[in-house]
Amino acid sequence: MRNRVDILHGVNFDQLHRRDPELYGGMTFSELEVRIKKFARDLDLEVTFWQTNHEGEYCESLHIASERADGLILNPGAWTHYAWAIRDALDLTGIPAVEVHLSAVDEREEWRRMSVIRDLCVGSVQGKGLEGYREALELLKAAL
Ligand code: DQA
Repeated sequence: MRNRVDILHGVNFDQLHRRDPELYGGMTFSELEVRIKKFARDLDLEVTFWQTNHEGEYCESLHIASERADGLILNPGAWTHYAWAIRDALDLTGIPAVEVHLSAVDEREEWRRMSVIRDLCVGSVQGKGLEGYREALELLKAAL
């Protein structure tokens, strides 16, 4: 059964509890992980979490992603909008990925409307807060 999912969060997610609650929900990163784990359990998916503030580490994690996971959920944070190295690393994985954002990036500042990963992903969810991760997992499951 192909049900192993890596959830890769990028820069500043370790500071989630300090970020604008109107945009990001005011939860801690650990709370976010616990809630996503519950969504995954309901869908029979086995999730592993990973977060870094270092772009190169994020790329390196993508380099070996297919050795440990069948699919990926990606929220690279601000890197989404400009980190072409992450796009190239994602392109190497060969496994399906879904992009997710807590906030509605397409309705915020102009620079957030660009996503370097979107066209490589089988789905993209934004602006639905924590619930968006449930939808992202459902989209990924359909692609596995
Ligand atoms: C984010 C949106 C990004 O624009 C922002 O830089 C983040 C969080 C989101 O989940 O809404 O760090 O990825």
